[in-house]
Amino acid sequence: MAAISRRDLLSSGLALSVSSLAARSAWARSAMGLAAAPGQAKAEASLALAPRERLLFDFDWKFQFGHGTDPARDLGFGNGQGDFAKTGDFKFAKAGFDDSKWRTLSLPHDWAVELPFVRDEALNSHGFKPLGRRYPETSVGWYRREFKIPASDEGRRITVEFDGAFRSVLVFVNGCFIGRNDNGYAPFSFDLTDFLIYGAKNYIVARVDASFGDGWFYEGAGIYRHVWLTKTDALHLGQWESWVRTDLKDGKALLKFRAVVVNEGPNAEEAGIIWALYDVDGTIIPHGAGAGRGSPLQPGESVEFTGQMWISDPKLWSPESPNLYRVEVSVSAGGKTRDAERVSFGIRTAVFDADKGFFLNGKPLKIQGTCNHQDHAGVGAALPDRLQWFRLGVLRAMGSNAVRTSHNMPTPEWVEACDRMGMMMMCETRQMSSSPEGMAQLEAMVKRYRNSPSIILWSIGNEEWHLQSDMADEGAKIAATMVRRCHELDPTRVVSAAVNDSNAKGVSDALDIIGFNYKLQYPDDFHKKNPKRPVYGSETASAFSTRGVYATDPLRNTESAYDVNPANWGETAEEWWKFYATREWSAGGFAWTGFDYRGEPTPYGWPSVNSQFGIVDMCGFPKDTFYYYNAWWGKEPVLHLFPHWNFAGKEGEVIPVWVHSNLDQVELLVNGKSLGSQKVPNLGHVEWKVNYEPGMIEARGSKDGKVVLTEKRETTGPTVAIRLTADRMEINADGQDVAIVTVEALDKEGRPVPTASNLIGFKVSGEGALLGVGNGDPNCQESDKEPKHSLFNGLAQLIVQSTRKAGEIHIEAVKEGWDGAELIPAKLVIVTGKADLQPSVG
Ligand code: GAL
Repeated sequence: MAAISRRDLLSSGLALSVSSLAARSAWARSAMGLAAAPGQAKAEASLALAPRERLLFDFDWKFQFGHGTDPARDLGFGNGQGDFAKTGDFKFAKAGFDDSKWRTLSLPHDWAVELPFVRDEALNSHGFKPLGRRYPETSVGWYRREFKIPASDEGRRITVEFDGAFRSVLVFVNGCFIGRNDNGYAPFSFDLTDFLIYGAKNYIVARVDASFGDGWFYEGAGIYRHVWLTKTDALHLGQWESWVRTDLKDGKALLKFRAVVVNEGPNAEEAGIIWALYDVDGTIIPHGAGAGRGSPLQPGESVEFTGQMWISDPKLWSPESPNLYRVEVSVSAGGKTRDAERVSFGIRTAVFDADKGFFLNGKPLKIQGTCNHQDHAGVGAALPDRLQWFRLGVLRAMGSNAVRTSHNMPTPEWVEACDRMGMMMMCETRQMSSSPEGMAQLEAMVKRYRNSPSIILWSIGNEEWHLQSDMADEGAKIAATMVRRCHELDPTRVVSAAVNDSNAKGVSDALDIIGFNYKLQYPDDFHKKNPKRPVYGSETASAFSTRGVYATDPLRNTESAYDVNPANWGETAEEWWKFYATREWSAGGFAWTGFDYRGEPTPYGWPSVNSQFGIVDMCGFPKDTFYYYNAWWGKEPVLHLFPHWNFAGKEGEVIPVWVHSNLDQVELLVNGKSLGSQKVPNLGHVEWKVNYEPGMIEARGSKDGKVVLTEKRETTGPTVAIRLTADRMEINADGQDVAIVTVEALDKEGRPVPTASNLIGFKVSGEGALLGVGNGDPNCQESDKEPKHSLFNGLAQLIVQSTRKAGEIHIEAVKEGWDGAELIPAKLVIVTGKADLQPSVG
């Protein structure tokens, strides 16, 4: 849509223009504004958000399994003809339906993680959880909720927004079928305005069918992301239509604003827009404000507003300083603010150069990235928001500066955490297709996230073999359509895809920048032949390791934690990083994967239930290769010595001892005797062969001739005590926040026991509940939900969630049904307090 008119309005530099989006009658008009004093504007701006309510719709749902093939066990749904015959006929979505025997739960919810594991090879990629058409009794879930709509909401637009659900969803309200969604990752929403009963109780029901999958990895089942109820004026901002684009010139930034106003009310409205701009510290930036004047917006019409202003000395967004500006966009008409929303954005440049790699804000920066799926121990795909931060925090602590959201659009809270934490992102859509469904998924992703500074490139998909080979011509067309749409919606970012071949044809023809999955034999040649096309590693490594295990043993489904086990299509950490780090033209790359994930249990099948590609395990506990990346990606001195030194029964056998370090030189001592020093090769590691004898190994790392770090591993005794440590001792009493608790086995000298596998029982009482438990063992088939779990190589993790009442959560770890030594139980108290509560549907 081209702007039809634009007129400079204010001396402060704000310009506004409007253009018509109306399908029925195009119309154009000019707008004018009023200058506002900073203080005044701040007050106005915060008031301006008031008309819109965005209520969390997560609590107090009722849930019951339905059935994929038997209507009698599926609320009578699908009995034959007539299911959708008459509007208003769905009794399960009306008053009087008895759901008293249904389970009460809160969202996000993943029922797959609650199911037992089933040995069935066809379930392999989904982590052996019984989903699919052959498991009709566990593949369909019904969610039902009663909610009140006050009489005062009459005249507002009320929309239910699902951030994502797995996978095919039918939504009913007050007996009426409202709509459907047919993919597991894109958000979807329905305007309920006409179906609601004002000043009374209402009923919403979602039938979620997880019989079909989208990917080849664990995807969960159910409403695994947040749901919202949004109430706006009938004159409101278009969903995801507001954007801010920035241009940097001579130390100043030009901010370009855009919003769309929609009139769904019965009257013509003369609408105006205000963009209230806030600095990174939250103070208002002096700015202009616009109020509309001209021909009114007719019922059913929409109009686009644009504006711009300069700011000097902008504070740039980067991984080190994730500076976020905020603009509050508000619509006014008839002398009142009618709708408003907040858009946060960052000012930065992100440029991929074919000769020199990637530049952020004009400075060269290698992408030190990982690919990640979206599940975690204990909770499956239904991650509490805090866990998104936790996971990114683990990757950041490793020195990583980027993530790829393989292979689907991410949860909003993950993106927000990336923006706030300073993690760059390659944001990927699920379906590579220019079909209506493929384009709808792509558009939802780009529109929803285009204001996020963390996103440096869009990905239109991953490894579409056919579109690269037997359908290469069609692939090039499909990709071109998708790339073009990305550019239309967001001309500020480049578009790529993760391609697992030579990139010589097909989809690759249409891409702005070229991603190689593995296949290190191709990028050099590609670069030579295509000197103008930027290149990076869209997916690398796929190296296996089991945390704390130092022998590859196909009988036990373990892979040694030394960096020696790439998949036959992949590379070790050292191999891929040396490759991309040492080529000036390369932009860096994304290792497969940051975290282990459920499903795709490679290299072994059953009883493995998750992959072993992770640099950290399912809980986020580091494997040893974490420290390879930490040494070469991080900024601090690193010295990591492994393995542990508990090899009873292996006395006299040769044990490889490795050190990951970025120091100059490392000396190894075994029981006080030096085995000599070694120079640390650039981007490499050092290793010794040691005849095992119990006691202690010690590494001394030096820089410029001085020892700056030492690390030791000692042979420990058996477990006599447990230590509980939480990531935070105080969490919000909002029914959503979680404490992430590490459970460690200790010997009698208080040293962590790196081989402990004791079964531990957990008691959680007070104002909290155990949401999930895990230990990072890829072969563990214990329940993620029961209050007991084995340690895996000395560790387990509890995820404990607050209730909505302030108080204390008491956590206890006790010995659970094993003989032998007594265990000193551990106790931990987490305080919960009310803070920044998200308004929710009552
Ligand atoms: C890639 C694929 C990933 C994952 C990985 C395992 O080819 O893109 O999703 O399957 O292999 O190595």
